[in-house]
Amino acid sequence: MPNARLLAILFAVFGAAYFTMVYGGGDLGTKFSYRDSVANTRHNLTQRQPGGGGPNGVIMDPYRNNYNEICVYCHTPHGANANVKAPLWNHTIKTTTYQTYNQLGTSTLTQTVSQPGPNSLTCLSCHDGQVAVDSVINMPGSGLYDPNQATSQSDAFLNTWPSASSVHGGLNPGQCLACHSAGAGFVGAGAPDFTVAFIGTDLRNDHPVGITYPIPVTGKDFNDPNQKKVGIAFFDTNGNGRADNNEIRLYDTGQGYKVECASCHDPHGVPSAGPGSVFNPTFLRVSNAGSALCLTCHIK
Ligand code: HEC
Ligand code: HEC
Ligand code: HEC
Ligand code: HEC
Ligand code: HEC
Repeated sequence: MPNARLLAILFAVFGAAYFTMVYGGGDLGTKFSYRDSVANTRHNLTQRQPGGGGPNGVIMDPYRNNYNEICVYCHTPHGANANVKAPLWNHTIKTTTYQTYNQLGTSTLTQTVSQPGPNSLTCLSCHDGQVAVDSVINMPGSGLYDPNQATSQSDAFLNTWPSASSVHGGLNPGQCLACHSAGAGFVGAGAPDFTVAFIGTDLRNDHPVGITYPIPVTGKDFNDPNQKKVGIAFFDTNGNGRADNNEIRLYDTGQGYKVECASCHDPHGVPSAGPGSVFNPTFLRVSNAGSALCLTCHIK
C-alpha cells in the first residue's frame, strides 16, 4: 500500500480523536470539543459530555460535588457574593495577600501594581489552590445557601448537597493534582497534567495583574484602547461600542484601568474563527498567533 494511502487511512481512523486530544498547539490535551459553549470546556466542572466520547465522570465523582449545572460553580441568580465587583459571583473568595509581580524587582516596570482586582480574584478563587472548586455560596435548589461561604469554605455546608462527594478538592498538589500531575499514574488514564493551572498565591512569575494600564496613553510603549467607558476600556476591533468577548479589555474598579486575568482570558471560551469553530487555546480572548494578544497592548 502506498504510504500516502496508509497515512490517509490512519488519519481517518485516528486523526479525529487525535485532534480532539491535542487540538490547540501549546494547549493542554483535552477530551472536550472546546466548541460552542463553556459546557464543552474544562470549565464545565460537572465533567460529563453529551453524546459520550468525553470523560465519563466516574473517577471524578468522589472529588467534587456534581451540581449537574455548569454556571453554578461560578455564578448564581440569587444570593451572590456582594463583596466582589464580579457578575453574580458564587464561588468562595478567601481574603488573601498575594505576592505581586513588582516584588520580583525588575528595574524596567513603570506602572503601579496593586493586589489583584475583582476580575483576577474570581479566577484565583480556584486557580490559587486555596479553595475547593465546588465551594459555592448557593448550591442549586432551595435552602442550600450559606452566606459565610462568600469568604470561607465549610465542608459541612458542602456536604449538605444530596449526593455530596467525599472530598472537596482544589487545584493544588494534595487534591486535584494528586492525580492530575505527571508521575501520579493517572495521566496515562486520560487525566491531563494540571500542574501549570495551579497558579498559587505567588504571582511574581506571572504576567502582572492588578497593574495599571497607562490611560491616557503617553509615551511609545502602549497602544491606546479606542473605547474608554466607566469601569471598562477595550480594544473595540469591530467598532460596535461594546466590550465583546473577543476584545482585550482593562477593568477599572476604582483604582484606574488595570490589567487583570480576564483582560486576556474569557472563562467561557471564545471561538477562534467564528461560531462553531474550536475556541482559542487556554480560554484566550484572541489568538496569540504571531503574539497578536501581546501586541494588542504592547508596542514592541
Ligand atoms: C483519583 C484521581 C483523580 C482525582 C483526585 C481528580 N481527577 Fe480529574 N480526572 C481523573 C481521570 C482518570 C480523568 C480522565 C477520565 C475521566 O474523565 O473520568 C480525569 C478527568 C478530568 C477532567 C477532564 C480532562 C479533559 O480535559 O479531558 C477534568 C477537567 C478534571 N478531571 C478535573 C479535576 C478536578 C477539578 C479535580 C479536583 C476537584 C480532579 N479532576 C481530581 C482522575 C482524577
Ligand atoms: C469557571 C467560572 C465560570 C463559569 C463556569 C461560567 N462563568 Fe460566566 N463569568 C465568569 C467570570 C470570571 C466572569 C467575569 C469576567 C468577564 O468580565 O468576562 C463571567 C461573566 C459572565 C457574564 C457577564 C459578562 C459577559 O461575558 O457577558 C455572563 C452573562 C455570564 N458570565 C454568564 C455565564 C453563564 C450563563 C454560564 C453557564 C452557562 C457561565 N457564565 C459560566 C466565570 C464563569
Ligand atoms: C470554579 C473554579 C474555577 C474558576 C472560578 C476558574 N477556573 Fe480556570 N480552571 C478550573 C479547572 C478545574 C480547570 C481544569 C484544570 C486544567 O485544565 O488545567 C481550569 C482550567 C483553566 C485553564 C486551562 C485551559 C486549557 O485549555 O488549558 C485556563 C487558561 C483557565 N482555567 C483560566 C481561568 C481564568 C482566566 C479564570 C477567571 C476568568 C478561571 N480560569 C476561573 C477551575 C476554575
Ligand atoms: C496579559 C495577558 C494575560 C493575563 C493578564 C493572564 N494570562 Fe493566563 N495566559 C495568557 C497566555 C497568552 C497564556 C497561554 C500561554 C501558553 O500557551 O503557554 C495563558 C495561559 C494560562 C493558563 C494555562 C496554563 C499555561 O500556562 O499555559 C492558565 C491556567 C492561566 N493562563 C490563568 C491565568 C490567571 C488565573 C490569570 C490571572 C492571575 C492570568 N492567566 C492572567 C495570558 C494572560
Ligand atoms: C491587556 C494589556 C496587556 C497585554 C494583552 C499584555 N500585556 Fe504585558 N504588560 C502590560 C502592562 C500594562 C504592563 C506593565 C508595564 C510597565 O510597568 O512598564 C505589562 C508588563 C509586561 C512585562 C514586564 C515588564 C517589566 O518591566 O518587568 C512583560 C515582559 C510583558 N508585559 C510581556 C507581555 C507578553 C509576552 C504578553 C503576551 C503574552 C503581554 N505582555 C500581554 C499590559 C499587557
